[in-house]
Amino acid sequence: MTSFELRVADPADAPRIALWMQRPHIVRWWQQDWCVERWAQEIERQVAGEHSTPYVVAVDGEEFAYVEVYRVRHDRLAKYYVYGEDDRGVHVAIGDVSRVGRGLGKQLLRSLAEQVFLAEPACAQVVAEPDIDNVPSVRAFTAAGFVQHGELRLPEKTALLMVRTRAAQGGMTCTT
Ligand SMILES: CC(C)(COP(=O)(O)OP(=O)(O)OC[C@H]1O[C@@H](n2cnc3c(N)ncnc32)[C@H](O)[C@@H]1OP(=O)(O)O)[C@@H](O)C(=O)NCCC(=O)NCCS
Repeated sequence: MTSFELRVADPADAPRIALWMQRPHIVRWWQQDWCVERWAQEIERQVAGEHSTPYVVAVDGEEFAYVEVYRVRHDRLAKYYVYGEDDRGVHVAIGDVSRVGRGLGKQLLRSLAEQVFLAEPACAQVVAEPDIDNVPSVRAFTAAGFVQHGELRLPEKTALLMVRTRAAQGGMTCTT
């Protein structure tokens, strides 16, 4: 049973997030290898706005991942499927290379979806739009109970729309 701790990111986290975003396994899919200052501004912008909330995630007391949870109705994704008013979307990046590919990602995504459902009673779906070629990501979302709902032609990629419903809860135990 793995416990994850999430805290809202702060501009002071920008140096580490900027470093994580330069990692080859992340930059390939996120393409946000920005400088520290831009990340500080980005975090400030997100925290002040309605669109998206940035989080730093810890396991066993060690921070290892960066996550964004966004309101689909304020996101570009709203143009690409028939969204629910309270749908949430997630972006995830495991920055600590020593923790990649060890089963944490799928547990984190399951835990994240369950936390969103708990915190947002009106939210019926948590979604994601991984690149169709991002095999670890698609597999991690699938293992976390997300189901493929077809392809999306986004400007920079062909993505899979992956949808997690409340009904998909259960299965692997994961507390947060
Ligand atoms: C995507 C990501 C969160 C997945 O987390 P992870 O801890 O590395 O993945 P897991 O160890 O939980 O494995 C998830 C699944 O992918 C498979 N997998 C992991 N690494 C893989 C690889 N390099 N190639 C193929 N499959 C792989 C695992 O076998 C597992 O599949 P299974 O459940 O069917 O056995 C993580 O790799 C990451 O941060 N990647 C960079 C950023 C990114 O791509 N974010 C997603 C953008 S939408």
